Amino acid sequence: MQTMNSVEKYSKPLRVLHWVTAMTIMALLVVGFYMADIDPSAADKYDLYPVHKAFGMIALLLVMLRLPARAKGPVPSPAQGLQQWEHRLSHLVHIGLYVAMLSMTWSGYFMNSTYAYVEGVDIFGLFSVPDITSKSEFWNDIFHQVHSITAWSFVVLLSLHLAGVAKHRLLDSKGSDVLQRMI
Ligand code: HEM
Ligand code: HEM
Repeated sequence: MQTMNSVEKYSKPLRVLHWVTAMTIMALLVVGFYMADIDPSAADKYDLYPVHKAFGMIALLLVMLRLPARAKGPVPSPAQGLQQWEHRLSHLVHIGLYVAMLSMTWSGYFMNSTYAYVEGVDIFGLFSVPDITSKSEFWNDIFHQVHSITAWSFVVLLSLHLAGVAKHRLLDSKGSDVLQRMI
């Protein structure tokens, strides 16, 4: 099925990073949409914000570990038996997911850093990740918009990603089942 010099699966570190990141980010998407939608005058409006931010910073760390691990490789060669357009689309979606992960995490950190009413990101009361910018209403608004737009792009990319995995597993030939390479 695979050529001699190519690996059959993603390496253990890449598989662990994929699933831990996926779980964290999917939870952050749900919590993010939920908390942003709570009425600003509600007493519990800001209850979830600190938790979202702390897990968001964990996601940032995970993404920054994952990129060099991915660059170092090795990674399995493209799955057998797929159409050219399927290879192109999966490749584009994977790049999109990496860009969205970077944009989502850094826009969150920058949004917090430029926000006048907080200092740093509190990590569960243990320590605080310092600000990396000066305070600015203008830039806070920009990063807020980047965060929201990327959130919606993420939903679209993730839907394509899941549709691809499901199709290759359920509808295509056995050699195309990419889920095997990630578990
Ligand atoms: C991959 C990581 C992250 C994901 C998937 C994520 C997801 C989301 C989503 C879906 C929203 C709601 C967007 C909207 O409806 O406008 C949101 C809002 C927010 N996020 Fe994140 N987030 C992440 C990281 C972070 C980080 C690192 C921070 C800050 C340190 C952060 C701070 C916030 C804040 C303050 C809001 C609320 C904005 C508002 O009140 O409208 N997020 N996030
Ligand atoms: C927020 C959630 C997720 C993100 C950000 C994400 C991101 C990614 C990225 C960037 C890749 C490309 C790996 C590389 O070549 O470096 C990938 C591969 C993969 N993902 Fe996800 N993923 C997520 C959720 C899921 C879920 C829920 C599933 C299971 C249904 C899944 C199944 C897979 C599989 C099977 C591959 C391997 C594809 C192949 O070998 O061509 N992912 N994922």
